[in-house]
Amino acid sequence: MKLMVVGGGGREHAIIKKLKENPAVEVIYALPGNGGMADDAVCTGIGAKDIAAITAFAKENAIDFAVVAPDDPLVLGAVDALEEIGIPAFGPRANAAIIEGSKVFSKNLMKKYGIPTASYEVFDNMEKALAYLETAPIPTVIKADGLALGKGVIIAQTREEAMDAVRSMMEDKIFGASGSRVVIEEFLTGPEVSVLSFTDGNVVVPMISSMDHKRAGDNDTGLNTGGMGTIAPNPYYTEDVAKLCMDTIFLPTINAMNAEGRTFKGCLYFGLMLTPKGPRVIEYNCRFGDPETQVVLPLLETDLLTVMMATANGTLSEVPVKFSNKAACCVIVASKGYPVKYESGCPMTLPADDENGFIYVAGAKKTENGLVSAGGRVLGVVSVADTLQEAVKAAYAKTETVDFANGFYRHDIGARALAALK
Ligand code: AMP
Ligand code: GLY
Repeated sequence: MKLMVVGGGGREHAIIKKLKENPAVEVIYALPGNGGMADDAVCTGIGAKDIAAITAFAKENAIDFAVVAPDDPLVLGAVDALEEIGIPAFGPRANAAIIEGSKVFSKNLMKKYGIPTASYEVFDNMEKALAYLETAPIPTVIKADGLALGKGVIIAQTREEAMDAVRSMMEDKIFGASGSRVVIEEFLTGPEVSVLSFTDGNVVVPMISSMDHKRAGDNDTGLNTGGMGTIAPNPYYTEDVAKLCMDTIFLPTINAMNAEGRTFKGCLYFGLMLTPKGPRVIEYNCRFGDPETQVVLPLLETDLLTVMMATANGTLSEVPVKFSNKAACCVIVASKGYPVKYESGCPMTLPADDENGFIYVAGAKKTENGLVSAGGRVLGVVSVADTLQEAVKAAYAKTETVDFANGFYRHDIGARALAALK
């Protein structure tokens, strides 16, 4: 079989490596891919947002099955376009990807169907938003409506900060058109859990739970990033919590999307907060998380291609999806200065796979002089072990053997989870 994976980061590298385990796979093309994954996929350089080029490539190369991984092409209708030319694809159509593409849509969906989330107000007029903030409970959370590379959320600790956030989104447009509408929501507290799930619109199959570490610095200091590391499973996500989430969040969401005529097929990501009042949805993503995928897929024991094809053709209930009882840790190595300003093109040498772990490459380029960095998040160093403690220790041992002078990483990935286990 000939496969293609749209996207080019660490998440895509993890998906590609897992798909390759199926002996029926002859070749995997990555669009665009990156130089660091060139041993695992043919990297085409085709932009992940260029829908016309994606469909043209799929047709010319007689692709048997496509996986669209990032949010942008999903929201732009890449799966619709591929299906129109007869190429089966994993991922939601645009009318379902809106669950991530618009925060206003997802908040209104949750309100309409009674799915637990932070209470909120929506504003498309700045003066009204500012007037609301005069008396709103503080701290509060301001979110740009549209996609903003995971950065469109500002947690305001004071009324001043909240008003500045609204002005910067609605007047200064720091997140572009995404900020024309904002959601102002209740500030919640509690441990966060990421639950990725497979769903074909009939059944929903949660994957093993995970925990992201979003801030750039140790002990959750510094700016929000796309994610600086992950562990799985998440110790806060007990069997009781899982059952509660299935009954009050996962199934109601699938049913709600069906009722709206927006059947969701693909990977639906539930970003949850376990508050003192119960689990609440913080966000939905219409795709695999990055870097959650880097710890979830190494623990998947079932063949990924089989699960993805069943998800796309509506027969997911016929495929038993199994995860191992082990634990995994991923430490992201990013370019110094990420997420603000950083250099690319810096040399690095990667260690070979060994008993400590292996590396998914998120941003790199092949040059005559070897591999160089390309982007903010550069590597995901992953270990799988019998216990979380061993996985964390091995991932850090492996990270220390990476030769990348312009890189930095957090030193406390997994620390909160390990403390919770004690
Ligand atoms: P998001 O981009 O929606 O994932 O939000 C980024 C991060 O902001 C989340 O992972 C949470 O840590 C935090 N956050 C978002 N919404 C809330 C909320 N209502 N209360 C507290 N923290 C939040
Ligand atoms: N790691 C969070 C995300 O993929 O949005």
